Amino acid sequence: MKSKVLIAHDYGSGDVLQIAETEMRPLKPGFARIAVKAAGVNPVDARRMSGEVRFGPLPNRFGTEFAGVIVELPDDETDWQAGDEVLGSGAAPSTHATVTDVPIGNLVRRPAGLDWAVAGSMAGTVQTAMAIMESLGSIRSLLVHGGAGGCGSALVQLAVEAGIRVVATASRDNQAYLRGLGALPTTYGDGLVERVRALHPDDFDAAAILGGTEAATLASLKTVKPDGAIVSITKVPAPSDRVVEVNIRRSPENLAYFVERVADGRFSWEVSQSYPFEQAAEAFNETLKGHARGKRVLVF
Ligand SMILES: NC(=O)c1ccc[n+]([C@@H]2O[C@H](COP(=O)([O-])OP(=O)(O)OC[C@H]3O[C@@H](n4cnc5c(N)ncnc54)[C@H](OP(=O)(O)O)[C@@H]3O)[C@@H](O)[C@H]2O)c1
Repeated sequence: MKSKVLIAHDYGSGDVLQIAETEMRPLKPGFARIAVKAAGVNPVDARRMSGEVRFGPLPNRFGTEFAGVIVELPDDETDWQAGDEVLGSGAAPSTHATVTDVPIGNLVRRPAGLDWAVAGSMAGTVQTAMAIMESLGSIRSLLVHGGAGGCGSALVQLAVEAGIRVVATASRDNQAYLRGLGALPTTYGDGLVERVRALHPDDFDAAAILGGTEAATLASLKTVKPDGAIVSITKVPAPSDRVVEVNIRRSPENLAYFVERVADGRFSWEVSQSYPFEQAAEAFNETLKGHARGKRVLVF
């Protein structure tokens, strides 16, 4: 079977991206072969394209999440069948392809009628937001820096559902969006501490940094209780030892929890823009700018 795969032999902007046709290797035990319908574009994809983040030698392949249809399984597989509609995380970056192989243990069933672009853009950000929630434990107030992007949209809704009072930052354009997710919104930039204090005069139990690391760290140090957690996912060095790095934790159970809530309308999921696979360069260039509302998605 052949697959058309997004590949880059160099670092740079979107013009380093190419679509190459490759012959698939035989399916490995424990893997399912997926005809991809949609796959989210995350900052890590764009940062790997630019060379800011480097996992291994070139050429690079991309894509960490997907939704699609199972086309092949190992002979001894009993839980899943060819034709099942699924979503989840890939193994290594490889979901920006017409056909990709993913670990069976990562699969979550796509609820009937859930939009493909929505389904294909949840795994990475949702499992990261769930990991942040797990790291914070039992809290009653949370300051989120960068609440309108992919991870932020998930984190704000999870925290609000848990009864946590959330103040979240975003650009001016995304203030109403944040309010719709249940957060008290404010803008980042000069005067952040004063604006945050006006919305929540007491110290916060915790802060989560998803954008603007340096200013977000300084504001968190002034507004979070002395023993409160300050966590970051940005992988940008923070100017304080108090900031603890949190990373995605793959958990199909966590993903299914969130997917169920999007499917029945308890949570919302915004796809800011869908791009045909052939326009991946545009999607990556936009993602590099760092100002997303919800998710950008490639559709196949
Ligand atoms: N460690 C991990 O496992 C892991 C997992 C996922 C993501 N990440 C990283 O975490 C970060 C966020 O990911 P994401 O998917 O949520 O990204 P995203 O969808 O691009 O969202 C980033 C958000 O940051 C906001 N922002 C931009 N400049 C800001 C500033 N100066 N101060 C505060 N917020 C600002 C943007 O808000 P406006 O659009 O309103 O300007 C945007 O909503 C990225 O750096 C990504 O690489 C790490």
